[in-house]
Amino acid sequence: MDELPVVTERLTVRRFDAADVPAFAAYRSDPAVARYQSWDAPVPDAEARRLVAEFAAAGEGAPGWFQYAVELRGGGGLIGDVGVCVDPNRMQAELGFTIAPAHQRRGYATEAARCVLDRLFGTGIRRVSAECDARNTASARLLERLGFRPEGHRRRHTWLKGEWTDDLLFGLLAEDHGGPEIFACRPNLLVRDLAASVAFYADVLGFWVGWRWSDRQARFLAGDEPTEPGTALVGRDQVQLMFTQVDGSHTTRLHLDVSSAAQVDELFREWSGRGAEIAEPPFVRPWGMYEMRLHDPDGNVLRVSSPPAH
Ligand SMILES: CC(C)(COP(=O)(O)OP(=O)(O)OC[C@H]1O[C@@H](n2cnc3c(N)ncnc32)[C@H](O)[C@@H]1OP(=O)(O)O)[C@@H](O)C(=O)NCCC(=O)NCCS
Repeated sequence: MDELPVVTERLTVRRFDAADVPAFAAYRSDPAVARYQSWDAPVPDAEARRLVAEFAAAGEGAPGWFQYAVELRGGGGLIGDVGVCVDPNRMQAELGFTIAPAHQRRGYATEAARCVLDRLFGTGIRRVSAECDARNTASARLLERLGFRPEGHRRRHTWLKGEWTDDLLFGLLAEDHGGPEIFACRPNLLVRDLAASVAFYADVLGFWVGWRWSDRQARFLAGDEPTEPGTALVGRDQVQLMFTQVDGSHTTRLHLDVSSAAQVDELFREWSGRGAEIAEPPFVRPWGMYEMRLHDPDGNVLRVSSPPAH
């Protein structure tokens, strides 16, 4: 397993450190966040410091709880945490999550939990369990979005904050989770004159023109700016094509799309482990994609990338 931190489209998932204490104490002290959780709000500073120190010292992948800190990519501080408890048999685990209210309802919990699940299943975990208060509909929806199957409803099972509460049980098996999925393949045609190609596909073949990237300016061009050498995306119906105008030798390129940076990393590990010639390991490109490049035996370039940040 790669060392933390790891990045997803919009997030960095990392180890906790002492600087997280104020943000951690703040969101865990929100009564709405604590509503269906085992702790009481507010969380005293000393308790937040103790917990963060405990999280920072824990070993990822070792039996017991490990808490992942979640922050927006590019900095900005802690927005939540994803907790995992690995069973002593190292084949099963439990999952929990919390996102600060200001950052809820944007898909961050889904993205962070997917990243953590990819890591867990990558270490040989066969089953992940989760449970939530039956009234915690946001949590149940999140688990179902992650592919968890409902496994039961335990009535009046937990004494929580002065009342007996019902629990929902969920489970996700390694075989349900699956590995990284390449969901699209976009040919990247090399062209002599990018402006002429874009005009031909748009005006003659009726394709829409998506983004256009200028190599010289290292930025996307606005709609009214003339096309410059670089790369452009066009599409029609279910099909997308890319065109690149570059100097020098022309090599066939294909874009293979996966849905998260964790999946790019997983393919990187899988393919380099089997001896594929990885020309460029994954990193965030200036245009926002997390991308690796490799060569097939004929020198064709495969660019494997996750979508840019939303
Ligand atoms: C449980 C919890 C983490 C869920 O957070 P969440 O923000 O609802 O989940 P996500 O971050 O995955 O966001 C998904 C929601 O954002 C919406 N959304 C908006 N933009 C989105 C985007 N770009 N991508 C994906 N979803 C997006 C989705 O439609 C979804 O809304 P829906 O649930 O109404 O369908 C959060 O409610 C929480 O921290 N609760 C308090 C702690 C807690 O109870 N933890 C669980 C203990 S069991």
